[in-house]
Amino acid sequence: MKLLLINGPNLQLLGTREPGIYGSVTLADIENEVSALGSTLDCSVVARQSNCEGELVTWIGNARQENFDGIIINAGAYTHTSVAIRDAISGVSLPAVEVHLSNVASREEFRHHSYLAPVCAGVIAGFGKDSYLLALRALVSRINAQKQ
Ligand code: DQA
Repeated sequence: MKLLLINGPNLQLLGTREPGIYGSVTLADIENEVSALGSTLDCSVVARQSNCEGELVTWIGNARQENFDGIIINAGAYTHTSVAIRDAISGVSLPAVEVHLSNVASREEFRHHSYLAPVCAGVIAGFGKDSYLLALRALVSRINAQKQ
């Protein structure tokens, strides 16, 4: 199994970005932990980060040709704004899990709406880096269940 882990805008700043909200973990720490957990679940994880909406759209759209079986995505602020990312996820028809470090439901009103959630298999938010690890477990078990 091969999974694509996508992080969107400003997530390259993790470690120093608003530590009261996002903690002190870096993006490299998260990517390494997800990859290590992936190995124990027989799956390889390719991690990418971009601040550009179009680049995220392209990666999602190419995911099938690149032989990915599913996508874990923290689209950052684009979660709340991007019809293009939503259309890419629904267009590629691969299972995707939306992830957030913070509990977006308990933050500002503009973070309560996600354009992506309706086209994702599920959403995990509020558990810091564990959101990603939970998403990985959930996605692997969804993909394995679909294979049976
Ligand atoms: C975030 C939540 C978003 O609202 C915010 O714009 C981010 C990070 C999170 O992981 O908690 O950039 O996706």
